[in-house]
Amino acid sequence: MSELTVIVLAAGGGTRMKSKTPKMLHQIAGRSLVGHVLAAVSEAGASRVVAVVGHQRELVEPHIAEILPEAVIAVQTEQLGTAHAVRVAVEAGAVSGGTVVVTYGDTPLLRGESLRALVSDHESAGRAATILSGIVAEPFGYGRILRGDGGVSGIVEEKDATDEERAITEINSGIIAFDGAFLAGVLPRIGNDNAKKEFYLTDAIALAVADGLGVDAFVLDDVSEAEGANDRAQLAALGKILNERIVTRWMKDGVTVMDPATTWIDADVELAPDVTILPGTQLIGATRIDEDAVVGPDCTLKDTEVGHGARVVRTQAELAVVGPGANVGPFSYLRPGTVLGEEGKIGGFVEVKNSTIGPGAKVPHLSYVGDATIGEGTNIGAGTIFANYDGVNKHKTRIGRHVKSGSGVTFVAPVVVGDGATTGGEALIREDVPPGALAVSAGQQRIIEGWALAKRAGTPQAAAAEEALESGVPILGEPPATGE
Ligand code: UD1
Ligand code: CA
Repeated sequence: MSELTVIVLAAGGGTRMKSKTPKMLHQIAGRSLVGHVLAAVSEAGASRVVAVVGHQRELVEPHIAEILPEAVIAVQTEQLGTAHAVRVAVEAGAVSGGTVVVTYGDTPLLRGESLRALVSDHESAGRAATILSGIVAEPFGYGRILRGDGGVSGIVEEKDATDEERAITEINSGIIAFDGAFLAGVLPRIGNDNAKKEFYLTDAIALAVADGLGVDAFVLDDVSEAEGANDRAQLAALGKILNERIVTRWMKDGVTVMDPATTWIDADVELAPDVTILPGTQLIGATRIDEDAVVGPDCTLKDTEVGHGARVVRTQAELAVVGPGANVGPFSYLRPGTVLGEEGKIGGFVEVKNSTIGPGAKVPHLSYVGDATIGEGTNIGAGTIFANYDGVNKHKTRIGRHVKSGSGVTFVAPVVVGDGATTGGEALIREDVPPGALAVSAGQQRIIEGWALAKRAGTPQAAAAEEALESGVPILGEPPATGE
């Protein structure tokens, strides 16, 4: 393969998106539209990438520079047509010989391998230009491929086509491979005497034919690869296709996905073989799931790591780490900085933020854990609150190893509880607890006899109390017999 330059046209507006965000920056599968294109271009082995920007370039340019810092940026101030855009790229001094492929920035389904196949077909035939074409049922809006006795003779745009030409179903995907020297020479010869008064890149084909140079079209099997997203409905449709593609790839790689239709996996997620994903699950960003883990149903995990054999059910998590064999959910909320150790547990209606829960440690029920470390094998009772915020500052709580804390405890940070300590139920822990100590703070239980009769007279509560007291039964009678 000779040196490959790819020009990505990204100067056009995206008015049908009706958005303050440029079209190319809208996301599907966790990447912007242009981000998907740049990934395909890199995969195809481009040695140089030139991005042509214009509309909202103050947003588009830094975005491209962040994804592909080595990309050359060429600015097209006025959008005078695709040939003009390519000319701007060539004049940016970035294009010389070798093969030059022109692509668009809004075709997120384009595969690197399709670009590579186009380039190798183009180079092995030694043509001046090779069009990536496709056969579609509804060719409206596309440039049509004109074929004569001598093969491809040109491309005619929708607005310039005759009725007969409009019936042609082979269309220009927009992606064209050129011999670099031919491209540089042909651009100044392209005029704008057409229905749109634009400089059409597609006119290069007829000019090559007139020069007696070789041109052809390379037909794309899956024409959706060249589809752009012009409005939000198309964005969602392309997002769905891309998701199907990603989910199918993971299934082929050994991941069980019970319901592909309700499973959404971003392009950069990593899954190991024998992972199981249950319905209603979204895996976002840089989420990674290790072997034998089961995630779902109904989980949203963003930038989260799930260890080997862990189980995560009905959970919302972001920037969290779930250790091997750990259990999370149902109805758990793991906020950034949550680290759950091996075989640990975060149970139902538990919220955790910026906290490390050690190996085998458990926070099983209805608790808030913020800015804390909890040591190995410690058990936190139901309804525990880590009060980390005094209204001005956040403070840390440190709980040692094999601590048993009763239910309904409030740890008021900053506070430290030593290894092997115990805290009584409902304790308000404001002071440090030494290793092995028992800390209690709830007051002693007081009994005020006959309170219901005095203060709730005439209610079913008072009547029940009175009946029981009169029967002479100590506290509560035996429950009625159940079963046989
Ligand atoms: C173009 C092709 C058409 C093809 C279709 C595929 C031409 C003349 N026509 O038509 O044959 O079937 O794409 O989708 O090439 N752009 C710039 N600067 C410009 C003009 C366009 O950067 O001055 C960019 C746009 O942002 C867009 C792409 O080039 O990403 C295509 O431009 P557009 O005007 O949409 O071309 P189409 O009319 O769709
Ligand atoms: Ca278009």
